[in-house]
This record gives sequence, structure tokens and C-alpha cells, in this order.
Amino acid sequence: MAKILIIGCGGVAQVAIQKCAACAETFTEICIASRTKSKCDALKEKIEKNCAGTGAKAPVITTACVNADDVQDLIALIGREKPAAVLNLALPYQDLTIMDACLACKVDYIDTANYEAEDTEDPAWRAIYEKRCREEGFTAYFDYSWQWAYRERFEQAGITALLGTGFDPGVTSVFSAYALKHYFDEIHYIDIMDCNGGDHGYPFATNFNPEINLREVSANGSYWENGHWVETKPMEIKRVYNFDQVGEKDMYLLHHEEIESLAKNIPGVKRIRFFMTFGQSYLTHMKCLENVGMLRTDPVMFEGREIVPIQFLKALLPDPASLGPRTVGKTNIGCIFTGVKDGKEKSIYIYNVCDHQECYKELGSQAISYTTGVPAMIGAKLVLEGKWKKPGVFNVEEFDPDPFMEALNRYGLPWVVDENPVLID
Ligand SMILES: NC(=O)c1ccc[n+]([C@@H]2O[C@H](COP(=O)([O-])OP(=O)(O)OC[C@H]3O[C@@H](n4cnc5c(N)ncnc54)[C@H](OP(=O)(O)O)[C@@H]3O)[C@@H](O)[C@H]2O)c1
Repeated sequence: MAKILIIGCGGVAQVAIQKCAACAETFTEICIASRTKSKCDALKEKIEKNCAGTGAKAPVITTACVNADDVQDLIALIGREKPAAVLNLALPYQDLTIMDACLACKVDYIDTANYEAEDTEDPAWRAIYEKRCREEGFTAYFDYSWQWAYRERFEQAGITALLGTGFDPGVTSVFSAYALKHYFDEIHYIDIMDCNGGDHGYPFATNFNPEINLREVSANGSYWENGHWVETKPMEIKRVYNFDQVGEKDMYLLHHEEIESLAKNIPGVKRIRFFMTFGQSYLTHMKCLENVGMLRTDPVMFEGREIVPIQFLKALLPDPASLGPRTVGKTNIGCIFTGVKDGKEKSIYIYNVCDHQECYKELGSQAISYTTGVPAMIGAKLVLEGKWKKPGVFNVEEFDPDPFMEALNRYGLPWVVDENPVLID
């Protein structure tokens, strides 16, 4: 049907690309482009070998080296490859350059995480950031304003930008749209819970890009209540929840990007909170790294050259893509909704349970990359098939949730609806 250009070849991309290749009727051609071309070549070889072994129809796969920080390099690549859409699975730092290139070439854009500045000490960025902190009331380094600002330009170009089609944001946002469509007249409370019950056996490792992960969890928490943000200190709010197929876990309130878009797109919502589970050992390691300056994102001089501590730390930590064979246990991610239907108050809990070892057997990846890569493929598929396609910039909950929910069941992330959930105080 169409050609897709996928940028990035890390943990999430490797899952999404293999899932796209298994849907060769939609993704007839795939170009994998990243900073390190050898990773793209190795994945192409793996997919072609698998297809030859099973007799499955394989898409045409090409690979390329690209610097996704460079708009001209991206424009040249898109011009050469002529894809129908670009799936951005590089880092949030590259969102705007890739959106600029998509605009210039008039091709659709899809991603899984909102824009974040790489250099948070840059005075021009900082001025805008500090104004937003004052006006909006949350201090996270990432927010949707940068990408929502492209709305008119995407409308005028007649192209779609689909933002945040991972698991959270992504599946949790679609769960919200689905709950509203099928279970409620109005949703008042949303509690998003991301539980990773997996164990990789290392004293300390992150399940996805360490830089992005560590910045997320060392930042202030926040939640949306009665029309405004309430900010908390990092890890200030703790709850304990007994997760289906995982068991009881400590979870902490974090700021998370889907709160920002759901607050706009779920009419009448009064409170949205996001919780993520962490073990005590993970938190102690993180606090220690933070205290000694290893989470700093600004350059420091070391033996005559500049290094960024968090990037150096990334080089020391296990590559998230390598955790697959070692990780056992399950993830359980979902949302508890409370609202009204036909005048009566009710609550439901929609969630997915994903097994690390099953993911590894299927694609050679752990469940964190799997639970993000599968919805990235589904979002791209719906855009390419025209089911989620209209000019402008959209978050996933703005589209009809039904085809996405069906696809989750079909492509490896089945979900359940619990109509009598235990609530969180
Ligand atoms: N929504 C969700 O649920 C969710 C969950 C997890 C992750 N995410 C997002 O998913 C994305 C990918 O995460 P990941 O864990 O797969 O990260 P990763 O393993 O670090 O992969 C990132 C990939 O992007 C490539 N890349 C980085 N900078 C580049 C540049 N300037 N030009 C070209 N390629 C570049 C990297 O190249 P090298 O191979 O050379 O390093 C790597 O292949 C991130 O945006 C992350 O925030 C979303």
C-alpha cells in the first residue's frame, strides 16, 4: 500500500519495524534511517532472514544514515525515499526538526513522545520555558506547546501529525477515548498506572533511553485538578496497588505528557494523575546519581574536553535493547476511570498485561520497548490506511479509538475492562 520512513533504530524502533514488516500489506516498503546505519542493516538482515525462513511476504527494506538534528539532511532523505509518512522513533530532541522536514516535503508525521530540548541551559529556550512555567504551573522540560504550534502549518500543507502513539502516551490516551465513547457520558477522574514488574537482574538499568528516563523520574511530579496543575516534589506522592498478574507494588506520582492533552480533550475531566512503579533500590541509585551530578544535562569540562554527565552515564549503563534476554516478569499498564453514565457514578479499569519473556521470544525485545513499538506501528498503520488521517496536528485521543483498540488485540497487546476496580485514594 505505501512506503514508510522510520527514523531511529533503538529499542522501540526495532519492535515497531519488525511489526511493520509483519504487516507487509500496509507497509509495502520500509526505509530504516538512523544515526548508526549498521544497526539498521543488521535489523534489515534479521527481518529478511525471518521472512525467508517462514515464507512470509516481506516488505522492500532499505537503510540509510541520517542526522535527525539536521533539517536539510532529513529533507534530502525524504526527497530521495519519497515515503507516504515518517515515523519518528529517534529521541524527543528531534521532534521539531523532523516535523520541519515533513512540512517541507508534505508527508505525514508520527511520533511517540513530545518535544524536549536537549540543551536546557540554552537562554532562548529557557526564556520560553520559564514563561510557560509561570503561566501553566508545571516545570517539566517537555510539553506539547512546541508541537501544537505546528497545527496551522500542517493544516495548510494538508498533512497529518499524529503525536504520542506509544503506550503512555498512546494506548493510555486511546483507552481514555474508548472509555468515553463506550462507558461514560462524562469522565471526571483518570488515574493512569504504569507498572513494570520485570526484573533484569542488574543492580541498576533503565528500560528505555536512560537520558529520557532519568530526566523524567528526577523531575517534579504534577497532576491536573479542577482546571489547573498541582505540582509536587519528585516522588512526593506514593501509593501501593495490587496489580493483576504482577502483585503489590509501590507507585509514585509523576508528571506525564498525556495529562496535558487529556486535560484538553476529555471534556469535564476534574482530575488526571499518573503513577509509575519503582523499587526502593532503583530510587536509591537514582538519588545517589543525582546527588553527585551524574544526571546533569549541561556540558562540564573533563580532561580538556566537554562531556555531558547524563550522556556519559548512558554509555556506562546497559543498553535498554540488551535487557530482553535477562528480563523476567510482566508489565501492567492501564487507566482507572470514574465518571457518570445515565446519571449514575461508575468506575472502570482498562489495562494490558505484557510478559517480558513472551516479547523476547517473539521479537528479541523486552516488554517496555514492545509496549511502545506495537502502538507506534498501529498509529502509523491507521495514518497510512487513511483511518486516522486529517490535516493538522493531533493527539491520539482525538481520533476514533475503535480501530486502534481492535489492532491492540490483534498485534500483541490485548486489553481487559474491569468494571469493578479497586480505586486509588
Ligand atoms: N510513549 C511511550 O510509551 C514511550 C515509551 C518509551 C519510549 N518512548 C520514546 O520512544 C523513542 C525511542 O526510545 P528508545 O528507548 O527506542 O530510545 P533508543 O534506544 O535510545 O533509540 C533511539 C534511536 O534514535 C537514534 N538517534 C538518536 N539521535 C539521533 C539523531 N540525531 N539522528 C538520527 N538518529 C538518532 C539512535 O541512534 P544510535 O543507535 O546511533 O544511538 C537510536 O537508534 C523516544 O522518543 C522515547 O521517548 C515512548
